[in-house]
Order: sequence, then C-alpha cells, then structure tokens
Amino acid sequence: MNFQLTEEHLAVQAAARDFAQTELLPGVIERDEHQKFPAEQIKKMGELGFMGMMVDPKYGGGGMDTISYVLAMEEISKVDASASVVMSVNNSLVCWGLEHYGSEEQKQKYLTKLATGEIIGAFCLSEPEAGSDATSQRTTAEDKGDYYLLNGTKNWITNGSTASVYLVIAQTDVEKGHRGINALIVERGMEGFEIGLKENKLGIRGSDTHSLMFTDVKVPKENRIGEDGFGFKFAMQTLAGGRIGIASQALGIASGALELALKYSKERKAFGVEIAKHQAIQFKLADMATNIEAARMLCLQAAYHKDQHMDYSKSGAMAKLYASKVAMETTVEAVQVHGGYGFVKEYHVERLMRDAKITQIYEGTSEIQKIVISRELLK
Ligand code: CAA
Ligand code: FAD
Repeated sequence: MNFQLTEEHLAVQAAARDFAQTELLPGVIERDEHQKFPAEQIKKMGELGFMGMMVDPKYGGGGMDTISYVLAMEEISKVDASASVVMSVNNSLVCWGLEHYGSEEQKQKYLTKLATGEIIGAFCLSEPEAGSDATSQRTTAEDKGDYYLLNGTKNWITNGSTASVYLVIAQTDVEKGHRGINALIVERGMEGFEIGLKENKLGIRGSDTHSLMFTDVKVPKENRIGEDGFGFKFAMQTLAGGRIGIASQALGIASGALELALKYSKERKAFGVEIAKHQAIQFKLADMATNIEAARMLCLQAAYHKDQHMDYSKSGAMAKLYASKVAMETTVEAVQVHGGYGFVKEYHVERLMRDAKITQIYEGTSEIQKIVISRELLK
C-alpha cells in the first residue's frame, strides 16, 4: 500500500475541506436544531461532483477512486455528518449498486441523474422486524408476469422523503429464503407508495429518516436489479462498500472533534496557563490523535483493497468497527476538553458526540461488523 496521496487526492481533499468550511459550517447548528435537510448544500455538492464521485464519467460521475471518496467523506463529516450520510448513501449504496449490477437501460435512466446529484437515491433494506437479521424480509414482491406487486413497510430510510429513486429489497419466493429476494428500483410517486413520518433523532438530525409504506405498488419487471433472486447478494455486496463510506464518516466526526479540541485547548486558560499546558489534556489529545490515525489507516486500507479489486468485506467491516468506536470515544473526550462549553451547542462538539453514535448502528451495528470479520477469519 502506498502511503503517499497523489496530487489529485490532495486536490479533492482540499476542495471538500473548502466546501465544508464555507458552505456547510454556516447554519449547521440551526439545521441540527430544527431538523432541516441541507437541500441547497446537497445541490451544490452535486454540482461539485461529490454525489457520484466514483461513477464512470460516461454516466455523469467523477471517475475517481475510493481513496478520493474517503478523503472527501472525512472532510465533509468533520463539519456536517447529516450532509455526509446523504452523500454516502447516494455514492456508495445507490450509485455503486446501480453501476455495478444495473442494466444499461437502468443506468441511462437513473444513474446519470443520481451521479450528478440532479436527483438523490435511497437504499431500503431495513424493516420494523428485520434490521441486523436482514434475511427476514417481510416486504413482498410478488411476481405477476411483467411486473412485481410490492407490499410492506421499510424502516429508518435515509433520504426517505427527499429521494426520487429507491432501491427496495423484497421477498419474492419465501421457499427459497435469501435466494428468493429481489432488489427493485421504485420511483417516488408510484401509485401505492407512501412516505411515513420523519423520525426525531438523537443525531444526524439534518438528515431525513422515514419509514416507507408500499401497498400493491406495481413495479415493472425491467426495474429488477440483476437476475431473479439476486437481491440479498446485491444488498450485501453493496453494503460491503457502503461500510467504507460510513467508516470515513466516523473518521471525519472524530477528526473534526480533535481539531476543535486542539484549538480550544490553546485558547482556554485555567490555573494561569492554557489548558493545553496541563499534561492531562495533552494526553487526551495524544490518545485522540493516535486513535484517529489508526482509524484513517484502516479506512484507506479498505479503500485501497476496493480500488485494487481485492476482497474488501473484512477490511471495510474492520474500518467501520474501529472508526465508529474512535468517533464515539474522541467526541466524548472533546466535550470533556471543552468543559462546560462543550455541553452547549455553539461549540459544535456536543453535536459531533450525538452524531458519532449512529456510526455504530447503521450499515450494520458493531456487533454485526464483528460477525462479518470473524466469519472471514474462520473461513
Ligand atoms: N457479498 C456477497 N454475498 C454475501 C456477502 C457479501 N459481502 N455477505 C453475505 N453474502 C451472502 C452469503 O454468501 C449467503 O449466500 P449463499 O447462501 O448463497 O452463499 C447470503 O448472503 C446469506 O448470508 P449469511 O448466511 O451470512 O446470512 P446471515 O443471515 O447469517 O446474515 C449478516 C449475515 C452479515 C448478519 C447480514 O444479515 C447483515 O449484514 N446484516 C446487517 C444489515 C445491514 O447492514 N443493514 C444496513 C441497512 S442500510 C443502512 O443502514 C444505510 C444507512 O444507514 C445510511
Ligand atoms: P436490531 O437488529 O434489532 O439490533 C438490536 C441490538 O441487538 C443491536 O445492538 C445489535 O447489534 C444486536 N444484535 C442483533 N443481532 C445480533 C447477533 N446476531 N449477534 C449479536 N448482537 C446482535 N436501513 C436501511 O435499510 N436504509 C437506510 O437508509 C437506513 N438509514 C438509517 C438511518 C438511521 C438514522 C437509523 C437509526 C437507521 C438506519 N437504517 C437504515 C437501519 C439500520 O441499518 C438498522 O437500524 C441497523 O441495521 C440495526 O437494525 P435494528 O435497528 O433493527 O436493530
């Protein structure tokens, strides 16, 4: 693995940092407080190429590698993890899934708009009774010849009310278990498709999380992704890459918290000196920086494996497991470094602490990452 970033990597990183500081930072506290979706900011991210970074330019994407994506995700997440989850779902679940497994017609019809950010997408696997246990799908897609009849409820769907295209996982043949599951492209506005209430969340409050209800929705056969019965493998393979995106989000939340803690520790005085002169604070900063560097290496390693077409399920799961733990620990310590000021909204670290928690839950909880990792080890 080469530890030297290329000029192109550095340029992507600088562009994402600049965008985050100038466009996302103003208003991030208000968006969090009022649960306001960053619609204008997401539109600009599309114009700058952040919504379909790895997609082939022939479909309107940036044609970049996964390392560039990790670097951009880190910078955006340092400032606004609500914006970065929209970016992560669109890039690594929806665009990647369609580009790698969709038909040419599906790519022309949907991917070209998703990759430019003209529209955004959602990935719908979880259900009220099927989260970690993802093969227990209750949503059904009954084969009716030239269409599927879709019925059921999806839960916790990111971009739930803002997406135009939804990749929905559903059971067609119960007898076949997970080999009887399909992935269907559902368009917003299809008859029988309803969007439920928005969730009132602990963190990533600017993102838009909803349940979705499907009642006799007729989904044309040409909207199935891949062969009949490929839906569960589609979901698993897509999530393997998605986890690199969420690992980078966790990395960004942690490194954003460290930057704030470093700055504050050089400004705040206690007992006649800057608190950064107290060894207890120095050691916290040292631990935070060391853990973050290790998390960054795991994220970049997983990205490298993906770019080199090596197996990245285990390395992606390791990156997510570790980076999300580091995000949680680092943000808690960053609040501590800020003392009472860390407990109020103006100083940003309390939001980072709340945002960090979700990285241990979605795209597979930490316990699920351990299952993925240990199964690979024991193969
Ligand atoms: N690639 C391809 N196929 C895979 C795979 C992978 N990475 N991982 C598993 N599979 C296949 C298996 O080979 C198996 O197929 P065969 O029987 O034909 O070989 C099939 O999938 C079922 O696998 P398992 O027997 O291992 O299934 P399991 O019931 O034990 O569950 C699991 C495995 C890893 C726990 C899985 O259910 C899982 O990942 N759960 C977590 C779900 C999750 O991550 N949800 C995220 C929702 S999206 C989201 O959260 C977005 C967001 O927040 C922003
Ligand atoms: P459960 O599966 O019920 O787990 C409860 C607890 O039991 C967890 O600690 C879990 O780790 C543990 N557990 C379960 N099984 C095992 C086991 N075998 N061994 C050890 N421990 C176990 N889903 C989507 O499909 N698309 C989205 O866009 C999306 N966005 C989300 C956004 C937010 C804000 C949230 C909160 C969730 C989102 N999700 C999304 C759903 C998310 O992926 C699930 O919440 C997650 O996979 C966990 O499922 P669950 O909530 O049903 O928890």
